[in-house]
Amino acid sequence: MHNTHVGIDALAFAGPEHYLDMTDLAAARGVDPGKYLHGLGQKQMAIATPCEDTVTMAVAAGARALAAFGIDPGEIGTLIVGTETGIDHSKPVAVYVHELLGLSRNCRTFETKHACYGAMAGLTASIDWIAAGRARGRKALVIASDIARYGLETPGEPTQGAGAVAMVVSDRPRLLELDRTRFGDYTRQVMDFWRPLYSKYALADGHYSIECYLDALEGAWHDAANDTPQTLALDRLAACLYHVPFVKMARKAHHKHLEIEHGGPLPSDDAQAHARLNASYAEKVAPWLELNATVGNIYTGSLFLALIDLLRQGRASFEGREVSLFSYGSGCGATFCVGRIAASAARQAAALDPQADLDARRRLDIDEYERIMAESETGDLVETLDPSRYGLDRGGLFYVGTREHVRRYARA
Ligand code: CAA
Repeated sequence: MHNTHVGIDALAFAGPEHYLDMTDLAAARGVDPGKYLHGLGQKQMAIATPCEDTVTMAVAAGARALAAFGIDPGEIGTLIVGTETGIDHSKPVAVYVHELLGLSRNCRTFETKHACYGAMAGLTASIDWIAAGRARGRKALVIASDIARYGLETPGEPTQGAGAVAMVVSDRPRLLELDRTRFGDYTRQVMDFWRPLYSKYALADGHYSIECYLDALEGAWHDAANDTPQTLALDRLAACLYHVPFVKMARKAHHKHLEIEHGGPLPSDDAQAHARLNASYAEKVAPWLELNATVGNIYTGSLFLALIDLLRQGRASFEGREVSLFSYGSGCGATFCVGRIAASAARQAAALDPQADLDARRRLDIDEYERIMAESETGDLVETLDPSRYGLDRGGLFYVGTREHVRRYARA
């Protein structure tokens, strides 16, 4: 039963203006392109220049969500930015975003960090803020913004990306109602992926991180199921959305999801069970992974990028149907929950489709990509950065250097 109607009222994606094609990366690294395209499921990955950071992407996504869904900045009473790639050890990204979006001085504003889980933490905090009666009719703005970087010639290199997803949470959600009775959580101290304070690059124990992700899915699912696993039955779900560090991970997650429901591993010689898995994946997961395949890993926003992909398809037949969402943050923390697609969702499809922006991106060659990666290492120390150096000539907000220890932003 949906005992309240709190949920997602607006959604928008914004990302960098450049991308690297996975076939170009494969050629440069001497790897069979099939590994990246089919083994990982990735086609392209968004590359942020030193002038595009967590703040500029968050502002672009936030402004877009407010404008596209006709929400006045004065209606926002809570702003939370979830990020793994903060720009200061102390000062939150959210307070820059607060000013740049022109939000009210009486808005509660903070940053959440838990690897890729930060935005789900923000979403659940916002739902609780509204359900507890603290919102007084106002809405919350939750923004996931990240630059996923593992470094050149590392195993994680093909699973990089960058981008931000903004979502407005309200008690009259036009997109997705979230059922507070079907949230399950999971936490365990593991060293699967982390980024020490001194490093621009994430460190990952890649194969172990996949195991940790799948264990967390099982743990969070059981917590959400509580005594009523039938309320989570896959048959009821129109779609299953997962955290997507790379597309193949969503397939592994769905396989695990079926096994959890089945109560054990699918025997490798059970052809019928594997046919059911393939059909279920093709119906409930694969159709909304296109944006993830062309943007790459955006850490906190990856799950919600899949949600945008689903909703931009405007399927009226999905209205009123349930979907599951699984958020995983390395380290690790996770939430599994169920939502219901709102009755008006299909009408909003055009407002949240980022395809035109993605089509306008410029393809980098491998030398440009490697130069951007090298220059990004020192971007925080440079006094003056010129966006036109990176071909950023379409307007917008950019990071333009750090002077006297203060980060500066300007509109080009
Ligand atoms: N054609 C088709 N497929 C191929 C192929 C080819 N020529 N060559 C290899 N493959 C397949 C492999 O069989 C494998 O598929 P399966 O997993 O289905 O077996 C897939 O391509 C990947 O191959 P490898 O496992 O050999 O790849 P790898 O060892 O180089 O590393 C990785 C892959 C572990 C994902 C690595 O990219 C990595 O460390 N990424 C960062 C960590 C990460 O994303 N972890 C995800 C879980 S943690 C999380 O979700 C939080 C987060 O966002 C980071």
